[in-house]
Amino acid sequence: MAGNWKMYKTPAETHSFFEEFKPLVDGAKHCEIVICPPFPNLHTALKEARGTSIAVGAQNLYWGREGAVTGEVSGHMLQSAGCTYVIVGHSERRQYFNETEEDVLRKTIAALDYGLTAIVCVGEKLQERESGMTEGVLIQQFTGGIGGLASDQFEKILIAYEPVWAIGTGKTATPAIASEAHAIIRREAAQRFGDLAASNLRILYGGSVKPDNCGSLMNAADIDGALVGGASLDPQSFAKIVNYMS
Ligand code: PGA
Repeated sequence: MAGNWKMYKTPAETHSFFEEFKPLVDGAKHCEIVICPPFPNLHTALKEARGTSIAVGAQNLYWGREGAVTGEVSGHMLQSAGCTYVIVGHSERRQYFNETEEDVLRKTIAALDYGLTAIVCVGEKLQERESGMTEGVLIQQFTGGIGGLASDQFEKILIAYEPVWAIGTGKTATPAIASEAHAIIRREAAQRFGDLAASNLRILYGGSVKPDNCGSLMNAADIDGALVGGASLDPQSFAKIVNYMS
C-alpha cells in the first residue's frame, strides 16, 4: 500500500502525520507500507519511519548520478538519504512535464541501479478509454517504458495501473475494469519476461482509492495493492486502507 502525497504537506505536517499514523498500522503485517512525500519532507519521514515497517519513497528521480542538472534529484541521492522506493512515470509527470516512455525506462533503470524499488505507473486517459484504446495504450506504455528492462531488473519493479480519468476525480475504476487492465499488463509481462516473472509481478491499482472501496478492489483478481493519492494524506483514512481486511 503506497501513499503518493504529491505536492502536499510541510515537514511539520509530515511529522504530525507520522505521529498519528504509526500506532494505527503497528500490527499491519500483511502488506508493505510505503509513503512518498515531496523531497523536502523525506528527511522527516525517514526519521519518523525508523524502527517501523513503513518504507519511504520519492515521487520522481533523474537518471544521472550527479551533475549540472538544476532542479533534479538523483537515485544516488535518494538511496543515500535512506529512501527505498520511487514512483516513476506518474501520469501527472507525463502530462505536465512531458515525460516520455524513454524517460520512464531511463528513470526506472536509474532507480534499480541505486537499489530503489521503482513503482512504474501506466494508465489510459478518458478519451483513450472511450475510443476503445485502453489495451493499445497499456501495451505501448509497457513496451516503451518497461519492456526494455532486463529480466533481473523487471523482477524488482512494481507496476501501478492508474487510469488518468480516475485520479483525483472520485471516479474509481470498478474492480472489474481494474482487473481487466491488470490482466492485460500481466499478459504483456508474461510475453516478455515469462510466466513466473508475470505471476510474481505486483500490480497496484491507483485512482480514487478510499477506505470504502479499497476492500472490493483488493479482492478482485490480479490486484495486488494500491497507490493512493488524496486518501493517503489523512492518517486515519490511509490507515483504514492499509488495514482494509480488518
Ligand atoms: P488519487 O491519486 O488517489 O487522489 O486519485 C492517485 C495517484 O495519483 O497516485
